[in-house]
Amino acid sequence: MDNNLELIKKRIEKLREQIEYHNYRYYVLDDPEISDAEYDKLFRELLELENKYPQFRSPTSPTQKIGGESLKEFKQRTHSVPMYSLDNVFSEQEWYDYIARIKRIIPDEEINFWVDPKLDGLAIEIIYQNGEFVAAATRGDGIVGEDVTQNVKTIKNVPLVLKGFSKDIKIPSYLEVRGEVVIAKEDFYKLNKKQLEQGLKTFANPRNAAAGSIRQLDPNITAQRPLKFFAYGIGLLRFEGEHIKISRQSELIEFFRNIGLSTVPLAKFIKNSDEVWEYFKFIESKIEQFPYEIDGVVAKVDLFEQQQRLGATARSPRWAIALKFKAEQGITKLIDIKVQVGRTGILTPVAELEPVEIGGVVVKRATLHNEDEIKAKDLRIGDYVVVQRAGNVIPEVVRPLKEKRDGSEKEFKFPSTCPVCGSSVVRLQGEVHYRCINVSCPARLKRGLIHFVSKAGLDIKGLGDRWIETFVDMGLIKDFADIFLLKKEQIVHLERMGNKLAENMLNAIEEAKKRATLDKLISGLGIRLVGEQTAKTVAKHFKNLDNLAKATKEELMSLKDIGEEVAHSIYSFFRNPDNLRLLKKFKEINLWPEEKEETQKETKSQIKGKTFVFTGKLDSFSRSEAKKIVEKYGGRVVSAVSKKVDYVVVGHEPGSKFKKAQELNLTILSEDEFKKLIQTNS
Ligand code: IVH
Repeated sequence: MDNNLELIKKRIEKLREQIEYHNYRYYVLDDPEISDAEYDKLFRELLELENKYPQFRSPTSPTQKIGGESLKEFKQRTHSVPMYSLDNVFSEQEWYDYIARIKRIIPDEEINFWVDPKLDGLAIEIIYQNGEFVAAATRGDGIVGEDVTQNVKTIKNVPLVLKGFSKDIKIPSYLEVRGEVVIAKEDFYKLNKKQLEQGLKTFANPRNAAAGSIRQLDPNITAQRPLKFFAYGIGLLRFEGEHIKISRQSELIEFFRNIGLSTVPLAKFIKNSDEVWEYFKFIESKIEQFPYEIDGVVAKVDLFEQQQRLGATARSPRWAIALKFKAEQGITKLIDIKVQVGRTGILTPVAELEPVEIGGVVVKRATLHNEDEIKAKDLRIGDYVVVQRAGNVIPEVVRPLKEKRDGSEKEFKFPSTCPVCGSSVVRLQGEVHYRCINVSCPARLKRGLIHFVSKAGLDIKGLGDRWIETFVDMGLIKDFADIFLLKKEQIVHLERMGNKLAENMLNAIEEAKKRATLDKLISGLGIRLVGEQTAKTVAKHFKNLDNLAKATKEELMSLKDIGEEVAHSIYSFFRNPDNLRLLKKFKEINLWPEEKEETQKETKSQIKGKTFVFTGKLDSFSRSEAKKIVEKYGGRVVSAVSKKVDYVVVGHEPGSKFKKAQELNLTILSEDEFKKLIQTNS
C-alpha cells in the first residue's frame, strides 16, 4: 500500500475509534464529551473517506448503524444455548416457597442474589466475535429465533466494536450477550404521535413498538426508532488464553459495563432473600417513575457455581425467578365506544368504562387503537371487560367476558361519517385508521390551525393555541382563511385580550399574509404525508395552488421523491369540495403566493451582462475554462480590476487584484461560491 493510502487507513481507524467512544459516552453513559456539531463533523469525515476509499469499508464501522437494504424475510437462527423463560412468583409466600426449594438443593450455604427490574420488551441475543458485532437473533421459541442482525445493528447503544481500551479488560473471542430491546415510555408517546401525524400505524404499548421495530424487514425503519438494548445475561462465552475470571452474575454485569454494553438500570447485588423482597416492594412503588415498562423484578442466584448445581427444568432455570407485580386488572362494564378526531383527521375509538379502581387509580377510559383491534378482541358495547394497568401507564382493555353476555350487547360499527362534522370518513387501503377528509372539521380544525400557524406553516407568532381554541369555539374561525378575516371589534372585548394585544395579533396575522410563500402555505395545509420538503418540491413545480389542485396523480408522481401514496393524498385533498372552497377564499383575501420563476431568471442575471475578474489558481477549472463558462451564460471576463467589475473570483495565492478588489469594495467570490453561481444557472 502506498504511503498516502496507509495514512488514510490510519485516519479512518482513528475516526472509528473516536466515534465509537463518543457513541459510548452519549448512548451508554448518557454523558457526552463533545457537541453534536463536533460529532457530526467526525461522522461526516468518516463517511466521506469510506465513500472515497471503498476498500476500507467495514461492516462494523459506526457508519453501518444507519440502516441498509430491506430483507425479503428473516432467516432462522438456532441458539447455541437455549434461551430459557422464567418461572414466576406472585406473592411473598410464593417467594419464600421458592427460597425453600433452592435451599433444599443447596443447604448450609449462603446464597446471594443479583436482582434487576424485569423489562417488558423483546428478548434478543447478540453475538460478538473477537469484539466485533456479527449477528443478532430474537428469542423465538427459545431454541430457534429469527436472524435480526441488520435491525439490531442500528440500535444506538449497541456497540459494533466492544470497548477494550483499558489494559485490564480482555475482549472475549466469542460472546453471546442476552438482553432486552425496549422503548422508553416517553419515547413511545413521541413515536406514536409522529406515526399519527404521518398517517401511519400506532402501537398499542412500548413492548409492541419495540418488537414491531425489530421484527420488520426494513433496517432503515429500525434505525429511526428510539430503541435501547439492556444486557442481562449470556449464552456462550469464550476467551482465548489468559482471561479475567467471571464467576458471578455481579461480575458479569460489571464486565458488560466495562466492554461498553448498557445493563439494566437499578440492578444490584443483594445478600439475602429478605432484602430481595424489600427490593421488589421498592421497585413496585417506583413503577410509574421508571422510564421503561416493567412487569416485575428478576432475582438470580449470584454465584455461577451455585447456578450450575441448581440447574434447570425443561422450561426455565431454577437459579432465577421473576417476582411479578400484581396483575393490576379490574373488571368493569364497557359503556360505550366514542370516536375522537385528531389533526390529520384520524379517528381513534376510545372505550368509555364504568369507573373502576385499578392499582389505586380510577380508570374511566382506555384507548382501543382502531377498528381491527376491536374486531380482533370481539368487544361489544355493554360487555363486561377485563381492564389492565400492569406496570404500564396506559390502561388496556384485555378481553370481554363472553360468558357474562345476556344478548343486550351491541356490536360496534365504525361510523361512516365524522362524529364531529358529519363529513364522510375513509379508510385507505393498507391503513388501519379511518380519517375524516374535511379539512375544516372543527375537531381537526383546532389541531390543523395550530399546525397552520406554526413554523411549519405561515409562522404566525402571537396566535397561540388557547386563542385558536377560543376563536373556533366562538365560531369566529371556521377554516384557515378566517384567521385573516378576524376583526378587532370581534376579539377586543374577550377576556384577557384588550386593545394592545388585539392590535398586535391582527398585525402579526397581516404580516404573515404578506410574507407567506407557496411552499409554507402548502405545508401549513397539513395534507397527509406532505411535510415541508414535499411542499417545497410541489411549490417549485406547480407555482400556484390552482395548478397544484389540477394536477393529475401521474404528474405528481413524476416529481422527485413523490411516490404513489403521497400523490394520491395530494390528489384526493384537492378533490374535496370543502378544500376547494378554501382555495377560493385564499384567493379572495389575497393570500395567494406564487412561486416566481426566480431561481432561474434572477440567477441568470447574476451572470448575464456581468463583468468578472479572476485572480489566483482555481482547483476545478483552468482560467480559460472559467472564462468559457462565464461567457456561455452571457457574462464577460476582463483582466483589470476596476469599479465596473461586478465579481472578483479569488483562488489560491491571489495577486494584487485581490487587494485592489477589497479596496474598491467589490463583490468577492470564493471558488465554491462561483461554482454555486454556475450551478444555479445550469
Ligand atoms: S434473565 C433464563 N433478566 O423475561 C432466563 N430476563 O420470562 C434469564 N426479561 O425472555 C432471563 N428483563 O425477555 C432476565 N432483567 C431481566 C429481564 C428478563 C426481562 C425477560 C426476558 C425473558 C423473559 C423470561
